[in-house]
Amino acid sequence: MVSPDQAQPLRGAIIGLGMMGRHHARLLQSSPRVDFAGAVDPLGDRHGAVREAADIHVTVEELLERGRPDFAIVAVPTDEHLAVAGTLAAAGVHMLIEKPLAGSVREAERIIAACRAGGVRAAVGHVERFNPALIELRRRTEEGQVGEVFLIGTERCGPFPDRVKDVGVVKDLATHDLDLVGWLGKSPIDVVAAQTAHKTGRAHEDLVLVTGRLRAGLAFSITVDWLTPTKIRRMRILGDRGMLVADTLTSDLTFHENGSVTSEWDSSQALRGVAEGNSTRYALRRREPLLVELEAFCDFVLGDEDSPAVSLEEGLQTVRCAERVLQSASESQTVRV
Ligand SMILES: NC(=O)c1ccc[n+]([C@@H]2O[C@H](COP(=O)([O-])OP(=O)(O)OC[C@H]3O[C@@H](n4cnc5c(N)ncnc54)[C@H](O)[C@@H]3O)[C@@H](O)[C@H]2O)c1
Repeated sequence: MVSPDQAQPLRGAIIGLGMMGRHHARLLQSSPRVDFAGAVDPLGDRHGAVREAADIHVTVEELLERGRPDFAIVAVPTDEHLAVAGTLAAAGVHMLIEKPLAGSVREAERIIAACRAGGVRAAVGHVERFNPALIELRRRTEEGQVGEVFLIGTERCGPFPDRVKDVGVVKDLATHDLDLVGWLGKSPIDVVAAQTAHKTGRAHEDLVLVTGRLRAGLAFSITVDWLTPTKIRRMRILGDRGMLVADTLTSDLTFHENGSVTSEWDSSQALRGVAEGNSTRYALRRREPLLVELEAFCDFVLGDEDSPAVSLEEGLQTVRCAERVLQSASESQTVRV
């Protein structure tokens, strides 16, 4: 990481002051790594996220006229990422583009081409990778705590959020999980088989179940919906020594160890299979994932090759996986990515 003392603050702007943009705006105005360069939203600052009214603009062009920022965070609806990213890339502005990178592979590829042509550095806001529970889950798995990994399983369920209008649950939410299973398993997704459901009368799906395999051979499962009356955010990695479970709502991480105590009653042991062992909940340093993501992005813009910022190519791969998931569900087939 580039030391904050060594680095000059970067001038950063926010494009889109909606549900996500307002959080970025708060951090851009408070982080010592950033000088706030302004915000853009044609509907203004509905959430009261920007301190100075003079910093709010109606178009990207208006923002650029006031002086080009070093970078901008693109938090407009997914279908508008390409148009906004194209304008910023042409103006030479580096970008952190909210996830998913785009609504389609074609659009994601055009964003990548625009960034190359403009010579700008850009990353994708897969913020879950900066959740302390998942960072620790990955580190402990890498160290071999669960032994040989059998399965990566994720659940992301809850009520429907009114804000989402342009995409279904696969592109809006399952893209978190499609990114995470490859990141945790350190291997790209190879095949997917999916089921979707439409239960609330919207044009897009509101439930998806995915089973699949990473190229390295590991199996995974993803359950995502907008139909559950309580919010669940759970990831587990199961191995031959036990299971690590992360709750990303509370940033908790727990290890459930396989038991080593043998039963005197042999037939019971055989029936129960793996024995229950001790469970340990870890005390973690809980930093706000969006802030950690912003710091990683600043490092990336400043040329730190080890920054964990998520690359455009990884963002594209996730959009591709989402398209294959929808294809699999509509054709009732297992699909190679
Ligand atoms: N990382 C995450 O966990 C996460 C969570 C939610 C949303 N997102 C992503 O963030 C993006 C925004 O989602 P949201 O929920 O904040 O949507 P939202 O609808 O609440 O906000 C979008 C805002 O963008 C503004 N806007 C539209 N076109 C614009 C343009 N051309 N220039 C400037 N502003 C424009 C709208 O007026 C609106 O205020 C989406 O890509 C979404 O997938 C990511």
